[in-house]
Amino acid sequence: MEMKERNIEFEASEGEATKDADVFYNPEMQLNRDLSEIAVKVFRERADLAEMRVCDATAGSGIRGLRYADSADTLVLNDPNPEARKAIKKGLEMNNIEAEVTGKDANVLLSEHRNYFHVIDVDPFGPFTKFLDSTARATNHTGFVGFTATDNSAPSGSYPKVCMRRYGAKPLRNSFMHETGLRIYVREVFENYARFDKAFEPKLCFHERHYSRVMGRVTESKRRCNKNLENIGYLSFCPECRWRKLEKVRECEYCGSEVKHAGPLWTGKLSDHRFTEDMLEEMPDWQDTEEKLELINSEASIRTPFYDIHEMASQLGVQAPKRDEVIESLKETGYVVSRTHFSPTGLRTDAPFQDIRDEIKQASITEL
Ligand SMILES: C[S@@+](CC[C@H](N)C(=O)[O-])C[C@H]1O[C@@H](n2cnc3c(N)ncnc32)[C@H](O)[C@@H]1O
Repeated sequence: MEMKERNIEFEASEGEATKDADVFYNPEMQLNRDLSEIAVKVFRERADLAEMRVCDATAGSGIRGLRYADSADTLVLNDPNPEARKAIKKGLEMNNIEAEVTGKDANVLLSEHRNYFHVIDVDPFGPFTKFLDSTARATNHTGFVGFTATDNSAPSGSYPKVCMRRYGAKPLRNSFMHETGLRIYVREVFENYARFDKAFEPKLCFHERHYSRVMGRVTESKRRCNKNLENIGYLSFCPECRWRKLEKVRECEYCGSEVKHAGPLWTGKLSDHRFTEDMLEEMPDWQDTEEKLELINSEASIRTPFYDIHEMASQLGVQAPKRDEVIESLKETGYVVSRTHFSPTGLRTDAPFQDIRDEIKQASITEL
């Protein structure tokens, strides 16, 4: 049936795609596509390319690739499903867009285009790992790539063995498990690019509902790869007092208990606030998407994994205070603090653990 997302018309099957004859379209991924479209636009403006070649390697209905059309000089939309290709061609006609439509396994298509594409989008069913090697080969030395992962239960700790098998990393199930999972995804992408002396640097990485999205800039630079190796490490987490640090230590630096570890994972920033600020300037009047981007932007320069106020309050034996009150009082003390896109009850700060505990206790007492 004919559908419309933002200003693009396209064709897809109604409801959930359950068989090969169906053309996949998930309206819950609109925010993902909104942010991806704007990110590609900002990359194009910054990259100063004479010609930009874009590949939607797992296109489905083609809606994602169609939304990149304004930024692309050459557009390739690929899907091995013949019904999807019919829908893609219809979408191209409906919007008067020119593109090459191919029906290869994404690994074959990308392996045939070494260093060719400036933008590659990989949005498969489940994990993106099996497409990483060919995507890294096909990315130009001035590149921007986006990967969607819907296997979040593994790197966020529900299936540690699956996580170890797919990502070679140990997850940790706790209140910020989705951030740990995202850090495992980013490390996986970084390392795959590093094998080709290409440096992947995260520009916009986030978690939403049942999926995570990793987007970043690729440059051919051994020096940048080597520098970013500093951002590969481990997370230490104390299950007793909830202290955490993006470094491998044996004992909790707050209460002395034995800590748990997750990793190896990406210990650097998950998004680049200069990039997300440029994106905010380009954002049309898309309210939910803008709110999400504002949250991501506000926390982009703080590295420490976020704290869940309810969990911290319960651990301290006090009633959960209002999030914004704790944020304000920490700010007044002079710390950089923000909300987090991961959770409505979370806060992100690099403030010392003792001060966070004190402010939560104080805000809880004030509320009584
Ligand atoms: C999640 S859907 C893509 C959704 C689309 N990107 C969007 O935003 O609406 C995944 C698509 O990948 C395609 N696919 C499955 N295996 C593939 C492969 N090996 N190579 C390329 N595409 C593949 C499927 O046919 C399906 O249409």
